[in-house]
Parts: sequence; C-alpha cells; structure tokens
Amino acid sequence: MAPTAISSPNTKPPPVTKSCVTAPPTETETLFHAPHQPTSTDPIPPLRQALCSEQTPLAHRFRALFSLKHHASLNPATPDTLPAIYAIASAFTSPSALLKHELAYCLGQTRNLASVPFLRRVLEDRAEDAMCRHEAAEALGALGDVGSLGALRGFRDDAGEVEVVRETCEIAVGRIEWEHGIGREERVRGSDFTSIDPAPPLAQGTKELSIPELRRRLLDTKSPLFERYRAMFALRDLASPPDLPTAVPAVEALADGFTDPSALFRHEIAFVFGQLSHPASIPSLIATLSNNKEESMVRHEAAEALGSLGDEEGVEDLLRGFLDDPEQVVRESVVVALDMAEFEKNGEMEYAVLPEEQSFSPLASVKA
Ligand SMILES: [Fe+2]
Ligand SMILES: [Fe+2]
Repeated sequence: MAPTAISSPNTKPPPVTKSCVTAPPTETETLFHAPHQPTSTDPIPPLRQALCSEQTPLAHRFRALFSLKHHASLNPATPDTLPAIYAIASAFTSPSALLKHELAYCLGQTRNLASVPFLRRVLEDRAEDAMCRHEAAEALGALGDVGSLGALRGFRDDAGEVEVVRETCEIAVGRIEWEHGIGREERVRGSDFTSIDPAPPLAQGTKELSIPELRRRLLDTKSPLFERYRAMFALRDLASPPDLPTAVPAVEALADGFTDPSALFRHEIAFVFGQLSHPASIPSLIATLSNNKEESMVRHEAAEALGSLGDEEGVEDLLRGFLDDPEQVVRESVVVALDMAEFEKNGEMEYAVLPEEQSFSPLASVKA
C-alpha cells in the first residue's frame, strides 16, 4: 500500500540478532544465519531496532518496515536479503495487529521462500488476529508456495474458520494453482504496479473486455473470488495512469464493490484504491471510513488509501477526525495514513526511509 521506492547503500550483511523473537529459531531459520562481519554501515540493525521497538513511533516503524522490505525483495538477493526477512519476522511479537498484518504483506512480496515458515506460524495460530492471519495466507499465495497448499486448503474447507481467513485461503489456493498450472503459459497483461497481487490481472490476448463487462464479473457473487479478483485488478489497470479515458469509469465500477457482502472483497477494493490514488475514489473511501458499522479491516484500508491521496484538498483534515476512533486498527491506520499524506504533500522521493531526525547514522547513507 505504501510507496516503496528507496535508494539503498551497498553494504555488508548485518548481525542477525533475535532481540524481538521469543520462539527459538527453526532449523530453516538457523540454516540461513550466514556468518558475517558487521560494519558500521550495515543498514539492517538500525532498521530492525526501529521496527521492533514499541517505543518507536508507529509511522517510523512503518518506514523502517518498507526499507527492510526493499532489502528483503532485491533480485538477485544480496547478503542483506535474509537478515532483512528475519528482521521483518522479528516484529511479529508486537501487540499491534496493524503492524503485524503489514509484516505479513511485506514478507509475501519478497518472492523469497525463506519467508514461508514465519507466515505459516501466523496463519496457523488461531489466537492471532484474523486480519494478520488473512494477510499471512495471502502472502503464502503471493509466494506461490506449493508446500503450503495443504494447509491453505484445510483452512479454506474448515466451516468453523473465520470468514476472512477462509476466503483468503480460497484465493491463495487459486493463485498457487494458477501459478503452477495455466499461469505458466498465460501471459498476463502488463501493469503499472509492481506488487504481487492476490490474483493476476487478466491474460494477454483475451479479447478486450469492456468496463461494464468487467464490472459484471467483479460483482458476480456466484463466481469464484479468484476470478472476481482478476476482474478487480483488470479494472485497476484500466484506471492507471489517472488521465486514461477509462480511469474514472473503472474507478466508479470498482467503487460499486463496496456494497459486496464479503468484508474481504470490500477491503481489497480499498487496497486497490490506495494503489491508484485516484481522486475519483475519494467519496467512496470517505463513506467507507466514516461508516462505523463497517468492519474495521475495511475501514483501516480506506484510511490508508486516503493517506495516499493526502495531497488532495481536505483529505488530511478529514483523516485527523479519526485519530480517536474507537477501533485501534483504525486509529493506528490514520497515524500511518497521515505520515503517508505528509510524504505525498512534500513530494518526498523515498517513503521507505526513516526521517533523518531519527539520527540512526547508517540511515544517513540510505538517504544520501
Ligand atoms: Fe489485506
Ligand atoms: Fe491492510
């Protein structure tokens, strides 16, 4: 959701301490603890420290997280890749559901199967917040982890499971089966977005679908969620760049998804609006955030999406009105959203960098 562009120093691998982890490392984790010589320019330790400390302001923790995501996702991998993954996973001990679900999201974007054990642990912990478990399941789907198919099918078919987890597992199974089946031959359409989506956009070569047809597929509750998501991401791609003639009709079609019976589906519409940052989405996002009968997971996503539109008049003031919301996940999302709004307004190039006033010396070189 948050912008991820970042410059990075080319530095040596950091120490892999487990300061925030209560559970002992698994065999897989131990395996990857490569020996190294830490230097004063290691980027990971200060980022890890900022991410894991409950004393760090939440917005700074998110910036640290997205910096770590950058290191964790570099392709080809660098000596910082695994330490960055472990640093992200270390923060799963936080009491903040918002932070933890974002950790899961980031691990799912790494394309690195070293993330899998951490995500499995979150998904399989029924005491964990449902939003975090949902994000862990989605991340396993994004990683295309065949080894998780059995677990994902199990949660999908468990009638006693929380609905957002069940539905997410259904989509994740669909995505993994697609990736290892028809997706091998299918060439998906190019997109402005680098995210690994829960479902791929439509295939290249399929006849051009009109926006009304995509809207029909999006809203067809009899279709599998995976197929509906494909229509959702196809509509997203028709709304970017924002001056495309199809952009406003595509945003309006997506906004109709806010009436869907599935909270998971509604939250994904808000997520897509966060990616698009299209002003035409503002009215529906405000209505969603303002509706205190709406699920907090959906309101949280609407708040963050509005944060990505923070340079639009009135949006920041509106967000401030929710700083004391009764739902913790909404309050925290507003804090992060206001930080993102600040980023948008100032035209900063790099969201995923801690502000210099944090005075972590290695980050000065990140910023430079
Ligand atoms: Fe989500
Ligand atoms: Fe979210």
